[in-house]
Amino acid sequence: MTESNETVRMDDVVSLCARRGFIWQSSEIYGGINGFWDYGPLGVELKNNLKALWWQKVVRERDDVEGLDSSIIAHPRTWEASGHVEHFSDPLVDCRACKKRMRADQLDDAGACPARQGTSEHDWTPARNFNLMLKTFVGAQEDAAATAFLRAETCQSIFLDAKRVRESARQKIPFGIAQIGKAFRNEINPRNFTFRSREFEQAEMEFFIHPSEREKWFEHWLAERVEFHRALGFGDDRLRVRPHRPDELAHYANAAADIEFRFPFGWQEIEGVHDRGDWDLRRHGEYSGKELAITDELTKERYVPMVIETSVGVDRTCLALLCNAYAEEKLDDGETRTVLRLPLAVAPVKAAVLPLAKKIGEPAQEIARELRRSFNVFYDEAGNIGRRYRRQDEVGTPFCITYDFDSETDGKVTVRERDSMAQERIPVEGLRAHLQDRLEKAR
Ligand code: GAP
Repeated sequence: MTESNETVRMDDVVSLCARRGFIWQSSEIYGGINGFWDYGPLGVELKNNLKALWWQKVVRERDDVEGLDSSIIAHPRTWEASGHVEHFSDPLVDCRACKKRMRADQLDDAGACPARQGTSEHDWTPARNFNLMLKTFVGAQEDAAATAFLRAETCQSIFLDAKRVRESARQKIPFGIAQIGKAFRNEINPRNFTFRSREFEQAEMEFFIHPSEREKWFEHWLAERVEFHRALGFGDDRLRVRPHRPDELAHYANAAADIEFRFPFGWQEIEGVHDRGDWDLRRHGEYSGKELAITDELTKERYVPMVIETSVGVDRTCLALLCNAYAEEKLDDGETRTVLRLPLAVAPVKAAVLPLAKKIGEPAQEIARELRRSFNVFYDEAGNIGRRYRRQDEVGTPFCITYDFDSETDGKVTVRERDSMAQERIPVEGLRAHLQDRLEKAR
């Protein structure tokens, strides 16, 4: 068997995603809407599994991080205080000839100008700032007073709620607040499938610390987050950390590092770890007039906590998982199989139950029902067994369980493992515990 993942092309991943119901463009029947994506039956399972893993690692396994689910629309002053109204923009240019609109720092992707005679070069206007926040109106009026923003990052409400969370959860510095949710950015050029979208999900954690401990916690969280991505199966050749140069730091950041994944279109950020200092709490304190400083109970020192942030894109990490997992293998019999080698914890379907023939479907359905008590199971009795295996390989199902005519007498089924394709006979009684054990061990 020979395997190739090095040559994964985005086209293959995009086509698999649409064909098998992971991800496709939103509003397809109207021709699609640029920068918006729908996650189908398998996509939503993949995404939910990833979010559950993150929540488990960042919130549940720690006693110093609390969870939050805030509203998407916050008081508009939030975005003035955060600096987004003033600073959250990209440089925009238009081609005077063909009207193409591009981010000024991405002109290499513009292609030739179709509208200029004798030259293929675009005729760009000077760059002007374009604010990336999506606006809406709240209430019956559509005027400036009713303008609100769809959040550009999930973390701002964490700062607004920090005092209430700390007091209600009886936390002390250092502690963190985590949230997963949608964010919106009116990206000038959404591209590379879901990589740069206009609506996407972030999983963010803001860790509030004493000013003397910034370096320590920055290093701690960077190491934790790299470890998380390693556990998703991203090896050294696919994962790297890139500290930001001072001139590329966001308006709120004192220090930052990107965790990057090597996609088929190159190295790109999937997560940012930021030292936000006291920027957010100080500004929200100023703009709201509320006191957000705290007093240390022991030393009586009064200070505004500093913040170390971890911010991962859920969609980008799903895309990284899909690119990392996609492989085409030449089998010994000359056939090629497409296989998604997804880590067991995020695989959308954990097991497929496949009776060898329809007439022994009933006991096989009973097995599926029993397994569904513990995990997501797919049942399929149509078509030849080889094709059914291939269909499951293609969507990353780790185990295929075949119920055959021998099962009727020996009470065993064949469990076929996705990656090695090795098969073993396992008693039906105890099958759920057997699979659960293997899924647990792989965590
Ligand atoms: N609160 C900090 C913050 O939002 P960011 O680097 O702008 O920092 C964090 O975004 C993460 O959100 C990125 O690493 C990326 O994974 C994801 N993200 C940002 N913009 C995105 C977009 N347009 N489409 C998809 N994911 C995006």
